[in-house]
Amino acid sequence: MAHSNAGRVYARIAGTGSFLPEKVLSNDDLRQFVDTSDEWIRERTGIRQRHVAAEGQTTSDLAYGAALRALEAAGVAPSELDAIIVGTTTPDLIFPSVACLLQHRLGANGCAAFDVNAACSGFVYALGVGEKFIRGGAGNVLVVGAETLTRMLDWSDRSTCVLFGDGAGAVVLKPDTETGILSTHLHADGGFKELLWNPVGVSAGFKPEEKNAGVRVLMAGSEVFKVAVKTLDAVVEETLEHHGLDRHEIDWLIPHQANLRIIQATAKRLDMPMDRVVVTVDRHGNTSAASVPMALDEAIRSGRVQRGQMLLLEAFGGGFTWGSALLRY
Ligand code: COA
Repeated sequence: MAHSNAGRVYARIAGTGSFLPEKVLSNDDLRQFVDTSDEWIRERTGIRQRHVAAEGQTTSDLAYGAALRALEAAGVAPSELDAIIVGTTTPDLIFPSVACLLQHRLGANGCAAFDVNAACSGFVYALGVGEKFIRGGAGNVLVVGAETLTRMLDWSDRSTCVLFGDGAGAVVLKPDTETGILSTHLHADGGFKELLWNPVGVSAGFKPEEKNAGVRVLMAGSEVFKVAVKTLDAVVEETLEHHGLDRHEIDWLIPHQANLRIIQATAKRLDMPMDRVVVTVDRHGNTSAASVPMALDEAIRSGRVQRGQMLLLEAFGGGFTWGSALLRY
């Protein structure tokens, strides 16, 4: 489904922030748990290290760190927020939502607050929802991607535990009559459920007698890889076509950071040199919904991404879910 700004109000990114837990786990550190090597992980994924939340450090703690920085960069006080939307698949609790916990901690009580679960596409989905709030008349909207994916890893499964990390990224959206998010394209196909999932739940139950129960993230890696590349190609194409844009008009690609080879495939599709692609997967691993806003924040704070430039954000994740956001920063 495509959603574009036909009216005069755009959701502009007024400020960004990110937050990483202190503890770093290198590829060599992982060899203590599983039969793997730095060389294998780097060659197949591009990952060198990932950050891991400390004991007791929750998704809302990471979200709070990122949110404070984004609010400060935007010059917006928590009391001025009309909505808080958090993309996450690893909430502190089943409920209340991370967004509600974050709202209370920020002292923004009263505004709308809710989570969006679209796995690794969670931030792009949340951004799409936040944009609609702005188009509907909201003043300031805080959109966060925050995860503690390492909490649901099976550390004895080398095919998954080497891939993920923890972190949070945030943006503050404000209405603008000139520029901002031009469109978001959001998709899902629940038929792929069992290629990437965590089968432990509430109403579907936790069945200890079943094989694999208690095991956390389960993934058919090489199949996910193939669908991800194909699907991201399609959503990039859809976005360009929707705007009649030439691929060379994109200044920066800010992709979900799952695997460097998936990122390179999308960059190739856009005929984009890798120095125009924001890459953090080497240092962060796959932080699910947090990866896109953290990459965006890093690129903005380092001065690489400049006001007025055209940015293409994209993500792919469990569900499957996928999507893009095209914006003039
Ligand atoms: N260290 C060493 N060897 C490993 C390993 C690890 N961490 N993980 C898997 N292997 C082994 C496998 O056991 C297999 O060995 P075998 O040939 O003896 O059976 C071999 O490496 C190849 O495994 P395979 O799964 O085919 O590798 P791959 O090239 O597809 O790479 C992924 C695996 C997971 C890195 C890759 O498929 C991938 O990144 N997929 C996308 C995953 C993803 O992005 N998920 C999140 C989407 S949001």
